[in-house]
Amino acid sequence: MSTDSELPGTYYPGLEGVISNETAITNLEGRKGDGDLEYRGYRIEDLAEHVSYEEAAYLLLHGELPNAGQLAEFDSRLRSQRQIPGELIDLLRHIPREAHSMDVLRTSLSVISHFDPEVNAISTDHAANVRKAERIVAKTATAVAARERLLAGQEPLAPDASLSHAGNFLYMATGKKPSASMTRAFDLSLVLYAEHELNASTFAARVTVSTLSDIYSGIVAAVGTLKGPLHGGANEEAWKVLVEVGSPDNAEHWIQDALATKKRIMGFGHRVYKTGDPRARILKVWCRKLADEIGEDKWEKIAEPIEREVTAQKKLPPNVDWPTARLYHYMGLETDVYTPIFALARVAGWSAHIIEQLDSNRLMRPRARYTGPANRPVKPIQERR
Ligand code: CMC
Repeated sequence: MSTDSELPGTYYPGLEGVISNETAITNLEGRKGDGDLEYRGYRIEDLAEHVSYEEAAYLLLHGELPNAGQLAEFDSRLRSQRQIPGELIDLLRHIPREAHSMDVLRTSLSVISHFDPEVNAISTDHAANVRKAERIVAKTATAVAARERLLAGQEPLAPDASLSHAGNFLYMATGKKPSASMTRAFDLSLVLYAEHELNASTFAARVTVSTLSDIYSGIVAAVGTLKGPLHGGANEEAWKVLVEVGSPDNAEHWIQDALATKKRIMGFGHRVYKTGDPRARILKVWCRKLADEIGEDKWEKIAEPIEREVTAQKKLPPNVDWPTARLYHYMGLETDVYTPIFALARVAGWSAHIIEQLDSNRLMRPRARYTGPANRPVKPIQERR
């Protein structure tokens, strides 16, 4: 941090420590201090135990946990809106298979926006934004699964209205009806990924709509931001770490080398949580359960010493992306879909923030401290070298 008397503010690299918004959506200070997370006043540990992704999404979008009737109506609206336009499926068939899945998702959400019946509603229309957000939550999962099927050389599957949001995604992505424990673990990961205050992608979404642009533009900006390996892309990178280590016997050697060469270890560290990410603690238990269920404990045996040593030696505890990498592997999901899964959960949080921003907007327009040359006369072009 440094100050500059000629600027009306203070320079904080990476905006670290800057409070740019008020929000009633997520509290990271909570009751315990560092390592806490609450959605609209409910502790994440409580939500993880008691609510489904549908209930969490309702809480984020509508401000309160639903009662049984409200949940049934919300769930039925989501189930009835899962279909994506046939034009999008046609387009997905023509996108090169080498394209990054997050780039494809960015395109998919843009295409979906063109078919939204309220696409031209005024951007500050709260009720229309909530309806659009529900469509986005319902359709993003279908778009991600359709691309996965096409990559596997198979036809996209129609959504199954008898399945929950989590169960239906796993079915559409893998072609198999998931077990109850797989569905529960996947649903839990969606609850935990659904929202996280002003992370980079949510901030990007809020900046975008602070110009009074529309909800889809905010979501597309957020998808592009989430893609990076310092943010959502870390869950795919965390899996690559496990594969690179390869065997439990190699873990110790790999860790010492990574620490000695100051390697950035994906899935560890956090800008806000310095003593631990509660989401990682919750999911770790489920990694073990699913590893036992499929009878494959190699990855737990590799992950355990890495987690222990990086936490002990670097004081960097694992973040949410560390356990989800293993969790999604146990579900039979391909690595390229890990970050899109983060996105299909986070659309609920992004939408809640976009709506909150548009409900009480102020254009986000910070300043930069100029560090380039000064007072340069413009030479005629013949004299320029
Ligand atoms: N591995 C090794 N060193 C690390 C790591 C890591 N994962 N994270 C931070 N450090 C070191 C870093 O090298 C630096 O050391 P030094 O002061 O000696 O140069 C110090 O810690 C501070 O790092 P920073 O990058 O300035 O800290 P930050 O608060 O900006 O970092 C972070 C936050 C998430 C970008 C970083 O911890 C990181 O790159 N982690 C790996 C990527 C990752 O897992 N991202 C997912 C974040 S949580 C879910 C999400 O939002 O997507």
